[in-house]
Amino acid sequence: MRRKKMYKLNDGRDIPEFGFGTYKLNGHSGVQSIVSAINNGYTMLDTAYNYENEGAVGRAISESGINRDKLTVTSKLPGRYYAYNDAITALQESLYRTKLDYFDLYLLHWPNPKRGMYVEAWQALIDAQKFGLVKSIGVCNFLPEHLQKLQKETGILPAINQIELHPYFNQADMCKFDKDNGIVTMDWSPLGRASSVLQDPVLVELGKKYHKTVGQIILRWEYQLDTIPIPKSSSPVRQRENLNIYDFEISNSDMDKINDLTKADGRTHDQDPAVYEEF
Ligand SMILES: NC(=O)c1ccc[n+]([C@@H]2O[C@H](COP(=O)([O-])OP(=O)(O)OC[C@H]3O[C@@H](n4cnc5c(N)ncnc54)[C@H](OP(=O)(O)O)[C@@H]3O)[C@@H](O)[C@H]2O)c1
Repeated sequence: MRRKKMYKLNDGRDIPEFGFGTYKLNGHSGVQSIVSAINNGYTMLDTAYNYENEGAVGRAISESGINRDKLTVTSKLPGRYYAYNDAITALQESLYRTKLDYFDLYLLHWPNPKRGMYVEAWQALIDAQKFGLVKSIGVCNFLPEHLQKLQKETGILPAINQIELHPYFNQADMCKFDKDNGIVTMDWSPLGRASSVLQDPVLVELGKKYHKTVGQIILRWEYQLDTIPIPKSSSPVRQRENLNIYDFEISNSDMDKINDLTKADGRTHDQDPAVYEEF
């Protein structure tokens, strides 16, 4: 399969097919890991207000010496700032911390449906895009009913839905809904946060068959699902390993074997967006 390089978003912009997660990469060591990821070829960085590392991401961008235009930088709005004015201010504060003039992608972090604030926050993101503070806008952890509500009340669907996705929780229905509605799915915890999935016997066998590590099998499977994985690694070696997935192709029958590993309770944490709340 030919490397795609970029996905076309529903707002006409392009986004890389692969990204780098930065959760837990904070402070000096975090900066060093992110600089290493940039030097290893990652062109998309995923941070969030709540990771408390937007400063580290901005510092790494500047230390790496890369031209800012060559990077896609994502951040996220926490649920406690979903009132319109709070959302715009929080976004501005995030930009100040990164020392960037704009984010390429800005996401609502959780729907927190019981609060009933996500439509107001979405309106703030729509306006922030018009103001030039962000290039593209999206959401994380949104279920079909939340997306339909955004469409009904604002007429604008997110460009991206970033959701938990790994072999033990493959979200096939959610991915289909996203695709049917022109939304690109991005995978958080694409390696299942290095949980037991990395020792799964089916994946270990496939690793031997394709002469790849289990991590590479998983990331290639996510790529072939037409989703965007954003693995985090503090290790330069594993950063390179995770990017090295373009010289082989998983057969359809082996894709099915991996698809069959999904479990109803396969989430890494008990974070069902219908009920889970995060502020
Ligand atoms: N929107 C949301 O609600 C949400 C939620 C969670 C995460 N995220 C984003 O998604 C990103 C990725 O998810 P994540 O950090 O939770 O988990 P992940 O990327 O699935 O896994 C990270 C873990 O895997 C290890 N690892 C990385 N590459 C490996 C490899 N090739 N072989 C073995 N172990 C490997 C890392 O250890 P080392 O660092 O030691 O390599 C780390 O412990 C986050 O960093 C964050 O940016 C978003």
